[in-house]
Parts: sequence; C-alpha cells; structure tokens
Amino acid sequence: MLRAAFIVPLVIYVTRILYRFFIWKRKTAHLPCYGPAGIFGYYYTAVRYTFHSVECMQDAISKYNGRPFIMPTLINGAILVAGPQYIDFLRKSDDSIFSQKAAIQEATQLDYTLDPHQLKNPYAIGILLGEVTREIDKYIPDIVDETVLALDAALPFAKTNQVSVPLFHSMTSMIARVVNRSFVGPELCRDQDYIRASIRYAQTFIMYGMVLKLFPGFMKSSVYALLAALFGGKEEPARHLLPHLANYIKQREEGKRSTTIVEALIAASGENAEQLTMRVIALDFGSIHTLLVSIVVTQTLFELAAMTPPDVELIRSEVEDVLSQEGSWTKSALSRCSRLDSLLREVGRLHGVTIFSHERRTVQDAAFPDGIAVPGDTMVSVINLAVHLDPNIYPDPQKFDAFRFYRMRTAGDQDVKYDLATIDSNNYLLFGLGRHACAGRFFAAAVLKLVIATILLKYDVTLPEGVGKRPKNKVFSGVIVPADRARVKFTKRDSVKLPSTSCSL
Ligand code: HEM
Repeated sequence: MLRAAFIVPLVIYVTRILYRFFIWKRKTAHLPCYGPAGIFGYYYTAVRYTFHSVECMQDAISKYNGRPFIMPTLINGAILVAGPQYIDFLRKSDDSIFSQKAAIQEATQLDYTLDPHQLKNPYAIGILLGEVTREIDKYIPDIVDETVLALDAALPFAKTNQVSVPLFHSMTSMIARVVNRSFVGPELCRDQDYIRASIRYAQTFIMYGMVLKLFPGFMKSSVYALLAALFGGKEEPARHLLPHLANYIKQREEGKRSTTIVEALIAASGENAEQLTMRVIALDFGSIHTLLVSIVVTQTLFELAAMTPPDVELIRSEVEDVLSQEGSWTKSALSRCSRLDSLLREVGRLHGVTIFSHERRTVQDAAFPDGIAVPGDTMVSVINLAVHLDPNIYPDPQKFDAFRFYRMRTAGDQDVKYDLATIDSNNYLLFGLGRHACAGRFFAAAVLKLVIATILLKYDVTLPEGVGKRPKNKVFSGVIVPADRARVKFTKRDSVKLPSTSCSL
C-alpha cells in the first residue's frame, strides 16, 4: 500500500514530463533548440543550464546570432529566448497574448503556493505605483530608523571596532526587517520568527512551483500540502501576520493610523485580516521582492569593499554634502546623490538579479513582427546578458565601473534617464519594462540608497585580509546570487554624523 502511494504519483509525474516534452517538441519544431537533440539531450541541457546558465546563454547567443531559440530549463520548461531586437515589440504587447499573469501562474503555481485572488484583483500594484511612490517622503524616516537599528543587530561588534560577517546572510535578515518596517510596522518587523518564516518562504516557493507544475491539477493540493508540511509554506508567515493585522484593524476602528503600506492597502480596499494577510505576502511576492533588495545590497557592498578608497570617498562625500545641505533624508536629497545612484545602477547592470527578464506566457498562437511563429502556451523571455553586456551600449561591459552612469548623466542633459528606477530605455532591464515593470522600484530604490548611504556614513567596508577580489557570483537557473558564505569586514568610523531620526542612535 505504502509502495503504491509512491509509485502511482511517480508514474504520473514521469508520464507528464514525457507528454509535455513531445507536445512541446511538435509545437516548436521551427525554432532551433540549444543543446543535443532528443529527450535525453533536452534534459541534459536543462540540467546543464541550471548550473551553467551564463555559459549556455552566451554560447547560444553567438550560435544563433540573434535569432530566437529554445533553451531547455528544469525550472521553467522550454523557454523561447528572444534577443534585444524583440524588446520593443514585447514591452508594447499586452496580456491578451503575451501574458505576465499566465507566466507567473505557471512558474509559481500561485493558486497553491499563495492565493489565486491576488492576480485577479491586483489593486496593490496601483498603491505601490501611486501613493507609496508619491508619498515616499512619509516612509523615509522609518526606513532610516530601522536601517540603523537593524545594522546594530546584524553587525555584532564585540569589544573592538571591527567585525567580519557572512554578508549575504546578514543582509537578508537585515533587509527583511527594514522592508517589513514599511509594510507592517515596528513590532512585527522585529519579530525574528516572522522574519525567519518569510525568508524561508521566499527560498522555497519558487521550488514548490517547479515541482507542482509537473503534477496534474487533481494532485497539486496534496503535493503542496506535503511540501508545506515538510519544508514550510505560506502558512508560516501567515501565522504571524494574521493576528497582527486583525489587531491593527481593531485599533484602526478606534482611530489609530500607522505610516505603513498595510495602512494604505486597508484605506484603499477595506479588506479583512485574512485577505490582507495574503495581500501582504503577495505584495512581498513571497518575500522574493525583499530578497531581491538584499541581493542588490549585498552585491553593492562586495563592490564597495573591492573599490579603491578614493573612489569610495567620492560616493561617501557626496552623501555627506547632500545631507549637510538638506539636513535630513528626503526624496529630493536622495535624488541628488548621483554617484550613489550610479553605483547601484551599475550593480544592477553587471550583477542583475537574473540573466533574463520580461517572462511572458503566450495564451494563444502569436508571431513576432518578422513573422516567426510563437506557439500558444510558450514561455517567452528576453536575455538581459545580450543587453547589459553589449559593448556598443556599455563600453568595456565586463568591467564594474561605479561611475559609468554618473558620467553618462553628467555628459548629457537627460538627467533622470540614467536614474536607478528609470525604465524607459530598452538598454536597462533590472526592473523590467512596459506595463508590468516593477511597481515597487521607487520604494526599492529609496531603501537601497538609504541602506548603502547609512552604511557608508557609519562604517568602512573592506574585504577580509588576504582577499584581493570580490567573491564570484553563483548563478542558479538564470538567477544571479551573491556568494553566500563570503565575508566582509565592517570597521566603525570615527565622528559619524547621521541625520536626525526618531530613533536614538
Ligand atoms: C532591487 C529590488 C527589485 C528588483 C530587481 C525587482 C524587479 C522586478 C521586475 C524585473 C519586475 C517585472 C517582472 C515582469 O516584467 O514581469 C518586477 C515586478 C514587480 N515588482 Fe519588483 N523588484 C524589486 C523590488 C520590489 C519591491 C521591494 C517590491 C514591493 C514593494 C516590488 C514589487 C513588484 C510588483 C508588485 C511587481 C509586479 C508589477 C506588475 O505585475 O505590474 N518589487 N520587479
């Protein structure tokens, strides 16, 4: 009986993989497929892509010379990879054919891993792009407050003024706390169990999507329940969020208001505590968005640690000058830190967070403008690498050049064109493009700048003794992740002048 309980799902699983392969093969026969032919060649390439994504993509780009091709992957199935010449067409196309919802649904199996209601009524996107972006000044003092406190907690200085920490690990919890301060307020963002639960959820939910999509609909609920019981699921962060939000709604009825994104959501929707719980998890996209912020912070600190002291000083003194002129952090003060902005944008260009962007699933048969057929139910994606590493757009593209965008913006008259959160150029894809570009990018840019500026003011950041270069990234199935064990040394600076905030420093 026990044996049957394992064998039956396994047979269904394998049959489904084979079925999907042959259906897919028939539909995309007109497109070149990277790697050896046949089902074994396909899965060999998919496994190879998982661990050597950059090499596979670069090889395929030069092999197919700009033509669209199929890249077998384990996580997303067969992806139709489109070159830079299709970006304009894809950014302008809407969800009726190249659907973002269908792509998210397929990749994450949202109905099980999160909540189907989120995609049906995505009003939170409007709140992020509208109120949160417009009123970012309102959120800034809390972000600064929490950054200072969270840094104190993340950097355990003993009796000396130096500490070395595994950077990615430390920044992941630190940023989760800072971002959650704006989402849910100070009590819950400092609850370590909640922070641990949301990080764990971020780390597992894409994997769950990968597993679930290979099972037929009638089995998915049971498979999700098994995975969640073994490794945790949305229920874990929800266990903390639900009572917190129920309590906040009650206090709100008595007139309390907080400066949080939850407050903006309730004011706009009137949703109850259960609905809001899923909304917050979804807005945080299973904490994936927060994880992206920690990845960019980590990459930036690795670069700062490897930069020459005079270059770091240029960025730091800009921050100090702006602060002494403005008196405190505001949206306008942040926009004046052009070198800091350039540093972060360069991190986004060279270390991105993925080697692809603009993932869409066709919901019917379609075609590119040059007539190449794109069958229905196909995952389409643009390769960042072909854009971000194009020497015609970015000279010496493999080189990390913190002031690249600073020079570009000061050389011309188009100041904001090169701002971190600007997305109106097909040459920069960190936050995506078009109607579904990152809705949280202005908020994310503010957090990134405030965190890095605060670190620059408080600490010198250097590589450990004997280490000459920043650590190499790991790339897993196209996702670029900073080396997770690499350490960085923080040294307290003398005579630190921090702007006044509501917390005691
Ligand atoms: C450095 C950090 C971040 C990066 C690199 C990033 C990147 C992206 C990208 C590439 C997309 C577009 C996906 C597509 O084209 O389908 C996206 C969408 C989105 N992001 Fe971000 N993101 C970041 C942080 C955040 C944060 C902190 C939030 C929430 C406060 C957020 C909220 C969203 C939302 C709601 C969408 C969906 C927009 C839509 O469907 O119209 N992001 N993000």
